[in-house]
Amino acid sequence: MKIPLLDLGAQLKPLRDEILESLTKVIDSTTYIQGPEVIGLENEVARYSNTASAIGVSSGTDALLVALMALKIKPGDRVLTTPFSFFATMGVILRCGAIPVFADIDPVSYNIDPSAMADVLAQDKGKTIKAIIPVHLYGQCADMAPILSMAKQYEIPVIEDAAQAIGAEYPDKTGEWSRCGAMGDGGCFSFFPSKNLGGIGDGGMVVTTDTKFGESIRMLRNHGMEPKYFHSEIGGNFRLDPIQATVLRIKLKHLEEWHAARRKNAATYDTLFADTRLIADNDLKVPVAVYKKQAELSSISRNYHIYNQYIISVKKRDELVQWLRSKHIGCEIYYPVCLHEQKCLKGLIEKPNLLHAQRAARHTLALPVYPELTLQMQTYVVDQIVDFYTS
Ligand SMILES: Cc1ncc(COP(=O)(O)O)c(C=O)c1O
Repeated sequence: MKIPLLDLGAQLKPLRDEILESLTKVIDSTTYIQGPEVIGLENEVARYSNTASAIGVSSGTDALLVALMALKIKPGDRVLTTPFSFFATMGVILRCGAIPVFADIDPVSYNIDPSAMADVLAQDKGKTIKAIIPVHLYGQCADMAPILSMAKQYEIPVIEDAAQAIGAEYPDKTGEWSRCGAMGDGGCFSFFPSKNLGGIGDGGMVVTTDTKFGESIRMLRNHGMEPKYFHSEIGGNFRLDPIQATVLRIKLKHLEEWHAARRKNAATYDTLFADTRLIADNDLKVPVAVYKKQAELSSISRNYHIYNQYIISVKKRDELVQWLRSKHIGCEIYYPVCLHEQKCLKGLIEKPNLLHAQRAARHTLALPVYPELTLQMQTYVVDQIVDFYTS
């Protein structure tokens, strides 16, 4: 059996005719920049994420960059974030000329640890930290209540890196649920093909509950131009193509069912692994859905985790990767090197010791969890992992 990490062909199959028809319409319309498909998607994503504005942009990276530009992050500023994320989270900080500051992650959720953040913020006597970027890693929200409370205390804006987490929800202490992207000053989605809502190329979106902030981003994504050929700000070309927008509008209609299917697959893995000796023998840990209990207590179903990735933590991780690949099972390491240990930072910051992030980089591994995965495929994956540890 061959099991890829992600099977975009299986997702495309039932939607192919509808997508081709919509692409033909865009091509025949000759509106190739902005236009009704982009506006339509923006309205739908704003509604989906409970925000006042949604601004289509060229990628998740550019969503983060334009959000930091709108906050006027400048050389010499510092931006607080997690050391365990895709490079873009840190890359955009550096591209503004700012310096990243890291707080370690929580070893259970792999998201930034609010108590570690509290220490970093308390040490920032010069108030040089000008923004906070929590990342909702793998499709599960960071612990936003304490993060937002600290942000308020220190008067620092929060940009949610929700690239992997569109639709994920967070329960606050009162039992109210918030959609990711709607909690901070702005939220950034990626429509990279491997995301739960993925285009046929690059794309992204910034969402915000602050209409004024939204207007600023809308202007910056198009060279800071308003009206035409008048530039009061320096922006860039961060526009989303209508070709992507039209495909994403079709896929958005299926997003909730895909999230649910991924959650079902995650639950299946949890059960299959629980039936082995791997957990008891401490060879493997399954991912922890931190907000699952609250979700089960609520009256309607909640996206407590959208499982963009199903991440196990294992002993002998690199050998297991080789084993799974030899068995034609797709898997990936997200991420083998922490942000604070990347070569491009050399000389820019003093390398901190962020032990939980460093441990996660050594032990975590993503298994296939895409919606179209079958029980038979998942059983095969688990059987092969058992074989690895018992052979
Ligand atoms: C956490 C995180 N941030 C930012 C990005 C950047 O998104 P994009 O690839 O659309 O530029 C990604 C995408 O991989 C991501 O996973």
